[in-house]
Amino acid sequence: MATSAGKTVPESAPKRKLTYRKTKARWHPSMQAIPVPGIRRMVNMAAEMDDVIHLSIGQPDLPTPKHVTDAMVDSIQAGQTGYTMDAGLPELLVALRDYYGNRYGRKLSTENILVTSGATEAMYLALSATAAPGRQFLVVDPSFLLYAPLIRMNGGEVKFIPTRPENGHQLDPDDIIKNISMRTFAVVLNSPNNPTGAVYPKSTIERIVEECAFRGIQVFSDEVYDHLVLDDEEYSSVLSCGTDLDHLMCISSFSKTYSMAGLRVGWIISSQGAIKKLRRYHMFTTSVANTPAQFAGVAALEGDQQSVRDMIDIYRERRDLIVDLVNQTPYLTGYKPNGGFFIFPDLPDHVDASDLCLRMLKETGVCTVPGDAFGEHCTNSIRFSFSTTSERIEQAFERIIPWMKKQNL
Ligand SMILES: Cc1ncc(COP(=O)(O)O)c(C=O)c1O
Repeated sequence: MATSAGKTVPESAPKRKLTYRKTKARWHPSMQAIPVPGIRRMVNMAAEMDDVIHLSIGQPDLPTPKHVTDAMVDSIQAGQTGYTMDAGLPELLVALRDYYGNRYGRKLSTENILVTSGATEAMYLALSATAAPGRQFLVVDPSFLLYAPLIRMNGGEVKFIPTRPENGHQLDPDDIIKNISMRTFAVVLNSPNNPTGAVYPKSTIERIVEECAFRGIQVFSDEVYDHLVLDDEEYSSVLSCGTDLDHLMCISSFSKTYSMAGLRVGWIISSQGAIKKLRRYHMFTTSVANTPAQFAGVAALEGDQQSVRDMIDIYRERRDLIVDLVNQTPYLTGYKPNGGFFIFPDLPDHVDASDLCLRMLKETGVCTVPGDAFGEHCTNSIRFSFSTTSERIEQAFERIIPWMKKQNL
C-alpha cells in the first residue's frame, strides 16, 4: 500500500495494454443471401467516367404530374407532417379501395389494404413474413432482383422457372403447374415483368391463380408496372381472377405510373386476416409510409389521368425504336416487349454478358445491366432500359452497333 496525504491507497494496478482484435462484423448468416449486385458495379464504374449514356435506369424519367406534387406541398404546408394510421392514410385507403373496385369489379374493403413504403417494403413484408425452411417458392427467371434473396434470407427455397426470348419471355402456365410439388408454398408473379417487359395474358394469370387456390398455394403478384401496357390488351391483375383473397397478395405502388419512385408509397391487397398480421409487422419495420407522399397518392388516383395516357404513348414510341435498334445490332436476339420500359435481348449462349457489359461500358460509355442480376438462366442477356429519351437511345446505339460489329463472339 502506498500512502498519499496520510491516506492509504491501493498500489496502482499495472496498466493493461489495450489491443484491438480485428474481427469480422458479426452479421446474421442470412445476409449471405444478398448478392453483390452487378448493377452497382456498373453504375459505380459509370460514375467515374465522362459522357456515359445510361440505358440502365430502373425508374421513370418523366416528370411527376404537377397536381400530384402540389398535393404533397400543400399537405406539408397544412401541417400534415405527423404519423398516419399504421395501415395508411384513411383517405388513401378509401381511394385505393374505390380505384381497385372499379378497375376489376372486385368488392374490397379498406381492411384489405396496407399502405407501405413502396412496393419494396410490401414485398419485404410479404416474403419475409412467409418464407421459412421447407417452403419452396416458384420464381420466374429472369425476374426482379428482390424476390429470391428475400426468400432465401428467411430460409425459404427458390425454384426458378425459366422463360425464353424466343416467345417474348411469356410464361407458360404449365411450366409453373408441372413444377408444383409437396414442398411448394408459393408462386411469385410479376407482369409486366422487370427485366423482360413480358405482359401475361388473362388466360395465364387465371390458370395459375386457380390452380394455386385449388392446391392451397399462395400467389404473390408484383404489379408495379400495371399501367405500362404498351399494346392494345387489357391488363390482367390477380385481382381480376375470381378466387378469394386468402391465396393472393397483390403488390403495387405509385413509383412507375405517376413517376413517384422517390416518394415511396406502395401497398399490399390481400385478405383481411393477412392484412391484420402484416400491419403488425409493418409497425415493427417502417411503422408508417411517408404522410405527405400519401396525400400525393390520393391526388394521383383521384386526379386527371392524362399523364398516364401520355406516358404510355411515349414509352410505346421508345419501345418501337429500341426493338428496331436491337434488331440491327450484331449478336443480339431481340423480341417485342409489350410492357414496362425494358428489353432483355440474348447474346449467343456461351457469352458472359457481365464481362461484355463491362467492356461495352469502358469502351463505348453505354451503361446497361447484365442478365445475371435477374436470375440464373440468363447470364447471356442484357437489360436495356428505355426510360430515357429517344435521342439518347439513338445515340447509345450509334456507339453500340459499330462496337458490336468489331466483337468476335
Ligand atoms: C418489378 C418491380 N417491383 C418492385 C419495384 C420497387 O418499386 P417501389 O419503388 O415501389 O419500391 C421495382 C422497382 O424497380 C420493380 O421493377
